[in-house]
Formats: sequence, C-alpha cells, structure tokens
Amino acid sequence: MDLFAFEAAGKAESSETDDVQGVCNYLDAIAYARKQLKSPKGLPLSVRVLCETHRRLAKGVRGAEKSPGEVRRSQNWIGRTRPGNAAYVPPPPHAVGELLAGLERFIHGERDLPPLIRAGLCHAQFETIHPFLDGNGRIGRLLIALLFEHWKLLREPLLYLSLFFKQRRAEYYRRLDGVRGQGDFKGWLAFFLEGTAVVAEEAVGTIQDLFSLITSDRAKVLRVKTSSVMAARLFELLPEHPIVTIGRVVDLLSTTKPTANKAVNALVDAGVLVETTGRRRDRTFGYAAYLDRLRTGTEI
Ligand SMILES: Nc1ncnc2c1ncn2[C@@H]1O[C@H](COP(=O)(O)OP(=O)(O)OP(=O)(O)O)[C@@H](O)[C@H]1O
Ligand SMILES: [Mg+2]
Repeated sequence: MDLFAFEAAGKAESSETDDVQGVCNYLDAIAYARKQLKSPKGLPLSVRVLCETHRRLAKGVRGAEKSPGEVRRSQNWIGRTRPGNAAYVPPPPHAVGELLAGLERFIHGERDLPPLIRAGLCHAQFETIHPFLDGNGRIGRLLIALLFEHWKLLREPLLYLSLFFKQRRAEYYRRLDGVRGQGDFKGWLAFFLEGTAVVAEEAVGTIQDLFSLITSDRAKVLRVKTSSVMAARLFELLPEHPIVTIGRVVDLLSTTKPTANKAVNALVDAGVLVETTGRRRDRTFGYAAYLDRLRTGTEI
C-alpha cells in the first residue's frame, strides 16, 4: 500500500520510507535475477547471481553497511549477542565457498526428487549456510521463487512464502533448527509443503475475487451517466495503479487536467474510486474495494 501511495504521489513530492525503498530494491533484485535466468545469454542460477541480487537488495536499506553482494569472510551467528549464546552458529567462513558450490551442484544436478521438495531443501540449506552477513532471509525466500520458475512450476513469481513464514515464524525457525540439530528433514518439508499449499490456495482465491470484482466494477463504470471513454480507459489502468492523484492520471492517460478530473469523477460516481485525504487540493483516490481485497489476510 505504501508503494502504491508513493507511486501515486510521484517521486518528487513524497518522502521515500525505508519500507518503500526496501520493496523497490526487492522488486529490482527479483527483476534482475529473473532476467539472468530467462535470457539465453544470462547467468545460470548460481552464487554469482545470488551475490549480485543481494547487492541490489541491500542498497541503502537495512544491511547496507554489511558487505552487500559479498559472501561473508567472518563468523556470524543467529540470535542473541555472541556465538556462545546464539540460537544457531552457521559454518565458519572458510567453509562457505565449498558449501555454496555444493548447493549449486544440487540445484543443477539433482534429478530424482520432485522440484517442490528440492526447493524446500535448497531454502533450508541456504539458511543453514547463511552466506551473507545480513539479508539471508530475504535472499533465501527469493531463491524459492526463482527455483519455482527455474523448474517451470510457475511462469511468474506468483507464489511467495514470506507471509506464511512470518505468520508462523516460531515454527519456521524451529523447523529449520530441526534439520540442523536432529536431521528432521521430514518435519521441515511437511511445513514447507503445507506453506506452499496454503499460499497457493490463497493466491488463487485472491485472483478469482479480484477478477470478479473488476468484472462487476467494469459494468458499473459503463453504466454511470458521467462515464466516458477516458473513464473506461482509466478504469482498466487501476489494477496496476490502484492509488492515483489527478496529476498521475494526467500522465497515465496523456491527457489534460480537466479531462483527467472528469474521468476520476466518473469513477467516483460509479463507486469505484474513493477520495482518501478529505482535502480540497492534492486529493488522492483509491480503488478501495480492490485494495481491501489485496490487504485481506496480510495483517500479522
Ligand atoms: N532462531 C532462529 N532459528 C533458526 N533460523 C533462524 C533463526 N533466526 C533467524 N533464522 C533464519 O535467518 C533468517 C534471517 O537472516 P538475516 O537476518 O541474515 O536475513 P534478513 O533478510 O535480514 O532477515 P528476515 O528473514 O528477518 O527478513 C531468517 O529468515 C531465518 O531463515
Ligand atoms: Mg537481518
């Protein structure tokens, strides 16, 4: 939502928050990695790609001071204040290179296990190696999405397990530790597969709901008296730009301010757009029902 609002306001007017910067970096990092894997001249899914992805991810946000794009050269630990009282101490730095090479070999060499199982194992192993000083969670989750695409389970990164891991964080950590301490791969994989199923069901539900919402709202837009071709065109842009200002609409439709105003007013009349600031000037309009549906279930 912050990102949509940021885009609506235009870069000059709004102050970028850490969250917005973080999400922008994430999108940039995903786009970079996907492009490498897709293009015939691109790099294969490898440590090199993960390092460059990490560099993009860490730009100017949390972790930026901690060697972005570089595999660690010092000992790290997870939780508490020192290795002695940590929840988990990853392998020593001199072992990381060989371990990552092994993970790479597994990604490209393992054929017998189903791809979902392989992806779950890769995530656990990546988190266990913990190759970066920070950002291992973010890169490790991105790795799952990249593997799903690499192994042709999905054509787009539509399935994201982050929310599931966040909602069940304690169990997520416990399952990873189970692999490390007790070799409980089954427990971890059951959790990972459950997450995949839950997130997939949710994604399909969201897509279906959004699709029927858009279909019925399109009819409303066509029916309203103040409607116009411009209003209909603006409506089609809303799924990608669900928060807009008049200035933004001027740009999106390449039109004049009065025409943009009219199109926005028609969508307000149709009950599709809702003004959110309560101000007379610099108003912001949101596709409220759409945003509500997107937000559903994302509260932690
Ligand atoms: N107590 C724990 N037990 C097991 N694994 C843990 C624990 N705490 C963190 N982890 C793992 O380490 C990751 C966090 O590592 P790091 O801080 O380098 O990444 P991040 O991207 O900054 O964090 P986050 O995952 O919180 O966004 C978690 O996502 C999880 O996989
Ligand atoms: Mg961190």
